[in-house]
Amino acid sequence: MTKSSADLRSPLIARRMDRVASFLAMDVLSAAAAKERRGDSVIHMEVGQPSAPAPRAAREAAKAALDLGRIGYTEALGMSALRERIARHYRDTYGVSIAPERVVVTTGSSAGFVLAFLSLFDQGQRVAITAPGYPAYRNILEALGIEPVTIPLAKADGWIMTAEAIEKAHAEKPLHGILAMSPANPSGTMIGRKALAGLGETCRRLGLWFVSDEIYHGLTYGEPASTALTSDDDAVVINSFSKYYCMTGWRIGWIVVPERLVRPIERLAQNLYISPPYLSQVAALAAFDAMEELEAVKAGYARNRAYLLEELPKVGITEMHPVDGAFYIYADIARFTNDSIGFSKRMLEEAGVAATPGLDFDPIEGSHYLRLSFAGSENDCHETVARLKGWLK
Ligand SMILES: Cc1ncc(COP(=O)(O)O)c(C=O)c1O
Repeated sequence: MTKSSADLRSPLIARRMDRVASFLAMDVLSAAAAKERRGDSVIHMEVGQPSAPAPRAAREAAKAALDLGRIGYTEALGMSALRERIARHYRDTYGVSIAPERVVVTTGSSAGFVLAFLSLFDQGQRVAITAPGYPAYRNILEALGIEPVTIPLAKADGWIMTAEAIEKAHAEKPLHGILAMSPANPSGTMIGRKALAGLGETCRRLGLWFVSDEIYHGLTYGEPASTALTSDDDAVVINSFSKYYCMTGWRIGWIVVPERLVRPIERLAQNLYISPPYLSQVAALAAFDAMEELEAVKAGYARNRAYLLEELPKVGITEMHPVDGAFYIYADIARFTNDSIGFSKRMLEEAGVAATPGLDFDPIEGSHYLRLSFAGSENDCHETVARLKGWLK
């Protein structure tokens, strides 16, 4: 019996796909949903999405567009009005001037990563990411045949990626780019303006691409976040309407790229996605006019953050990363377990609190970490503490 060409290719493909791990937060979400179907109550602290709806102005704009009825394709790089509005956002928020032509509207930042990685890196090239870090980085890079190189973060460095760590990794075996994130998921730590400029300078000197994930901008509890574009015009910046703008399900985000990448990315976008969703672009444009509503949502996160930082130590969760921004607590639970997956399963089953095992974010140290998202209601945070109090004692 002869093998088809698909069979001959399959071991290679299988090996590549095996390296794409499952997203544990989504697995916990499924287990929590199954428990709820059995009639049990679950407090959802596992998924990083705002419980608030998209701002009213965004929903109204989408309704009006829906009533007109024609929901068609747009230009592959996005509607020009939205690209211009995003460029204005950089001027208003950071004092950085960028041409609207450098803004690419994407189907969530997730599609932005695919477009950016495909246009920046060849198969086999090496890109530095952090542990802990957002799990999809590693998995998207693996799926595209690009090698993720893990930089373990250290308390001594304030849990951020440093220029020294990049230099060291590059000296061991050359890198082609780095992926930094501030504020970070899962840790909530932020890279200050000077350190961010240092990363940009190091990348320029070593000839590396600097990709900066700024999806949690707007969600900071002290100093505002800086964009990599302030110090490095050549940085590739990733952002989204999912977090600050409360629009996860609308699947709409953007990237800012150097001018020379615009046309190659346009060709990729045309072929991979045709265009980002029209209705979501209309809504996103209106979301920029909803600052009052969005700031009120953020004030709720600030209250949740303060409450959990005060109350979790009282139930035994004492070791947490600094929560400068985003909406997560990343806690070291070594005093309870070295099996974060088993621990989160038991916590869901016995206490009815869903949280994400640290192994989602860090394949090694994550075995004794847990991530709790406080993007839900104040009541969810109070109930979490009450349930953990009984369960952890
Ligand atoms: C750091 C980070 N980047 C990117 C994303 C993807 O977001 P989206 O595709 O909804 O824009 C997430 C989602 O949780 C995230 O935490």
